[in-house]
Amino acid sequence: MNTVSKKRTLLLRYLGNRYFSTDAASFAKNLPRKSRDQLAIWSEFNQLSQKYGAMNLSYGAPGVDAPGFLVENLYRAAKEGNNQYTLFLGHPALREKLAAFFTPYFKEAKNGQSLNPHTEVLVTNGACEALYSTLMHVCQQGDEVIFFEPYYTQYVNYAEFAGATVKTAPLRLVSGKWEYDFDALEKLITPKTKCMMITNPHNPTGKLFTKDELIRLTKIVEKHPQLIVVSDDVYYFLPYDGREHTLFANIGDNYKRTITVFSAGKMMNCTGWKVGWCVGPPELIKHVSYVHEAAVFNLNVPG
Ligand SMILES: Cc1ncc(COP(=O)(O)O)c(C=O)c1O
Repeated sequence: MNTVSKKRTLLLRYLGNRYFSTDAASFAKNLPRKSRDQLAIWSEFNQLSQKYGAMNLSYGAPGVDAPGFLVENLYRAAKEGNNQYTLFLGHPALREKLAAFFTPYFKEAKNGQSLNPHTEVLVTNGACEALYSTLMHVCQQGDEVIFFEPYYTQYVNYAEFAGATVKTAPLRLVSGKWEYDFDALEKLITPKTKCMMITNPHNPTGKLFTKDELIRLTKIVEKHPQLIVVSDDVYYFLPYDGREHTLFANIGDNYKRTITVFSAGKMMNCTGWKVGWCVGPPELIKHVSYVHEAAVFNLNVPG
């Protein structure tokens, strides 16, 4: 057992003895995990790649810098006095722009209606925080979260922080093509499964879900009304050889149970700004925004 685990166990034993009549070990076992005992793999590799000057393949940093107009606008926004807290949902001007920009992308989901900037768009501290706040809202202790493996490692952290158990189905390379095992995924679902996460395009393989694959997923999800879907589309705006990119939310009735997550960092090569947003139906956005408010309260305003 490493030092952190030892300290944690001692602390829990103390708390268990002090406040609870239960055995300290089972008390510790049943607690949701609120912190990791070790650094995430990419943080470890970032440090190592800097130390040894190695090429860093551990995370999705853009190969080029943020465009000049963006940096100039950041400077202008700060100079014009946009330096104080804004509304917790995000700056109204930004939400209005996002709603107008994304309305055509959610055409089928919204039956041609406009996205409401005040109820269907939430600006977050990067896509990460949208993922975090959504999982914290959707999952309770003992719930389950499913996704395909390999996956973006933060999914596990957020699911476990929420007290949920992670279950994964494989994405396999078959004759040079990536194939999701939908049957395996479906078999994982129980009444406790509250959330399914998809990454489209996928990190780390770059695979895009075809429309047929998303329809297949939709059919699975439709059998389980308790399921909320998180569609992580942070790489939506990267070019993909002309292949069609379908948003999960645009298929059938999916919008009503889907939070779609985007990242300004990935879209505009400014990952260090940590600005993201999510789009979804008012009832879901409302509750995710309550977690967001409790967790971070506010956002990077000039960005
Ligand atoms: C699939 C995926 N989702 C979310 C994120 C996080 O995005 P952000 O930096 O906007 O929080 C990343 C970052 O690498 C990612 O690869």
